[in-house]
Amino acid sequence: MVTNRTHEQEDFYRQWLIKHLKPARYEHSLGTQSAAAELARRFGEDPGRASLAGLLHDCGKSLDDASLVRTARAYGFDMDEILLRSPALLHAPAGAWIAREELGVTDEAVLSAICWHTVPRQDMAGLDKVVSVADLIEPTRIYPGVDQLRMAAERDLDEAFMLGLERVMIHVLERGHLLHPNTVTVYNSIRWNRMENA
Ligand SMILES: [Fe+2]
Ligand SMILES: [Fe+2]
Repeated sequence: MVTNRTHEQEDFYRQWLIKHLKPARYEHSLGTQSAAAELARRFGEDPGRASLAGLLHDCGKSLDDASLVRTARAYGFDMDEILLRSPALLHAPAGAWIAREELGVTDEAVLSAICWHTVPRQDMAGLDKVVSVADLIEPTRIYPGVDQLRMAAERDLDEAFMLGLERVMIHVLERGHLLHPNTVTVYNSIRWNRMENA
């Protein structure tokens, strides 16, 4: 099923983002939107849903720390002490709340892809992975290893998702931030499966 949106809806979402995000973040959102649609077509996911989730995935970015915690809680997101110490990670579930309550998005698959794009969960849906990878490879992204990730995203969604988690962990460790255990657990389970099936 392809999720169709009217031009008016698309315009409404974009105007909302222009109003609430910094220009570079808005550009990143547009890049993620097109990268997600392309990955969805490649890996058998719904391009309409991927496009919407990619566009809106960072809609929670403008909230301050207290609002992030409050909004993620309102979404019913389970928070541990690491997330409470690193509230920036909560822009994902807080963004899912904004997408649902302020922007009127009702598609659970889209809300899920927004919700899980910072800290992953076990059994990420295909669309969740598409948006997470698109976030890391969209055209404005420049960092060591991005080309390797882009190449993996040409052929294998799981491999690209796993390499994306690797990049995220390196980034977190280099900056001395707290590493969320879900990132390690999900990385290990994909790596483990790939070793078994090699
Ligand atoms: Fe994000
Ligand atoms: Fe992003």
